[in-house]
Amino acid sequence: IADVQEDIDHELVSKEEIHTIIAKAAAQASKDYAGKDPLLIAVLKGAINTLAVFSQEMSIPCQLDFMSLSSYGSGTKSSGTVTIRQDLSTDVRGRHILIVEDIVDSGRTLDWLVKELKRRGAASVEIFALLEKPSRREVEVDVKYPGLEIPDEFVVGFGLDYDERYRNLDSIAVLKPEVYQGEQA
Ligand code: PRP
Ligand code: MN
Ligand code: MG
Repeated sequence: IADVQEDIDHELVSKEEIHTIIAKAAAQASKDYAGKDPLLIAVLKGAINTLAVFSQEMSIPCQLDFMSLSSYGSGTKSSGTVTIRQDLSTDVRGRHILIVEDIVDSGRTLDWLVKELKRRGAASVEIFALLEKPSRREVEVDVKYPGLEIPDEFVVGFGLDYDERYRNLDSIAVLKPEVYQGEQA
């Protein structure tokens, strides 16, 4: 394809709406974490754009780290198992952690990560998630800073991928059905 826009069926969340949602949560988090020197952890790769905007909207000092986790293979269905592709470089013992995530789908990635960070001795662990698909939830996840609830459509853009593509779109969109054609159910 010559242009990513050719594969887009329709836009679901505009660039402006994304920034408004993130700014509101970051403003609240800046109040809640005042004096706590929070560590923002982005779940790569999907949360890269969300963390970039979220961290810039924080008005208090904070640190950033990254953990690359995968629960999806190359398809549109979660595999159910979380694997660490790349670990943090920070010792989280005693730290107040705010996980920054792009989307909660089954909830398995965040359920695993919250437990893992507590196991490593974090003082507190909370979550900001830009998007949530409530109809797909399989495990309970407590999202302190919720973003936008969306229907059960496979979305891409602003960090979210299909088969590692479309992460660089600046809005969140639904792909044309023919893009998935041939995928095993
Ligand atoms: C996606 C998404 C979330 C997770 C949500 O990541 O970015 O991290 O799946 O799904 P869940 O709630 O069912 O666990 P993915 O595994 O595709 O890796 P990526 O961020 O590198 O795209
Ligand atoms: Mn992800
Ligand atoms: Mg993915």
